[in-house]
Amino acid sequence: MKVEGRWRRAIELHDDRVSVLVLDQARLPYEIKWMRLAELEHVARAIRDMHIRGAPLIGATAAYGIAIAMRADPSDAGLDHAEAVLAATRPTAINLRWALGAMRSILAPLAPSARSEAAMKAAAKICDDDAAQCEAIGRHGVELIRAAAKRAGDRPVRVLTHCNAGWLATVDWGTAIAPIYKAHEEGIPVHVWVDETRPRNQGLLTAWELVQHGVPHTVIADNAGGHLMQRGEVDLCIVGTDRTTRNGDVCNKIGTYLKALAAHDNRIPFYAAVPGTSIDWTVGEPEEIPIEERNADEVRFVSGRGSDGMPARVEIVGNASAVANPAFDVTPRRLMTGLITERGIARASREGLGILYPELST
Ligand code: MRU
Repeated sequence: MKVEGRWRRAIELHDDRVSVLVLDQARLPYEIKWMRLAELEHVARAIRDMHIRGAPLIGATAAYGIAIAMRADPSDAGLDHAEAVLAATRPTAINLRWALGAMRSILAPLAPSARSEAAMKAAAKICDDDAAQCEAIGRHGVELIRAAAKRAGDRPVRVLTHCNAGWLATVDWGTAIAPIYKAHEEGIPVHVWVDETRPRNQGLLTAWELVQHGVPHTVIADNAGGHLMQRGEVDLCIVGTDRTTRNGDVCNKIGTYLKALAAHDNRIPFYAAVPGTSIDWTVGEPEEIPIEERNADEVRFVSGRGSDGMPARVEIVGNASAVANPAFDVTPRRLMTGLITERGIARASREGLGILYPELST
């Protein structure tokens, strides 16, 4: 997708063909800076400290992490070590475990001498497949926006989204934002309500992406969504997911559940965009999903740009107060209107997902 008018991906192979470039999301939206990841530890730190984030991109970056590690040590012990280091970075997004499993299944049967080259190819394929999956989600999801446009008449379709499930969170296209990009390409007028998404404000990443593509949008405080829904100013909600159970419960960025409750109360369709790689077929119920508890400083401090234009960090919670920072919540399937996958739109249920993924559901 577009960065300052140039078509880029959120992760790209470096010209040296042995390291990768990622857009440093910790600096966005204030500064555009590409980071080179050349060692396993660089990759692990980039994921852990959220220089890259978003479930599909975490998976794709981890795949390259394995490939980079295989160049340094392609032995069985090297593969085990790289997998363990990367698996420990973030617990909730299932795409991480999926990508590590996919890499292992390709590399483990090979002789160590063949692993480095095979790993680079496999990581590149994971990235290409991710982009294709997201594009397909866009194609299926745009049908919902087309239908809403018919009902909207002359005014734009107003879509509310939470966190960043755009192309920054994937290799390309995004998941929840892909249908919006498709609609924009088709000339369907769309307006996006962008939840700020405290505490890390990933909504600002969504706003930045939408600016790059010229998609009309408005950033709102997280608490504003319910009010806008009550006033009839939201036609549709689309969010991403970090892990969806085989029964259709959607784990996503903290605050998603509250938006789903408000949408349900106001009879507003609430969809999650769910690539197959985000479905955890081993998990049936929400309580089984590990919810990442992140550093309290993410709540205690707010980061941004000072009036001098320089990066600034301001403390907003007095240090006598305790702070909790659960990073994800689970929206129960009963609140989901449907799941937009690369294979079509499914009901949020075991049966619904089973129709689209018969080979994976049991
Ligand atoms: O903590 P983050 O920023 O990695 O969380 C990201 C989200 O919750 C996204 O909505 C989700 O990964 C879907 S990304 C296409």
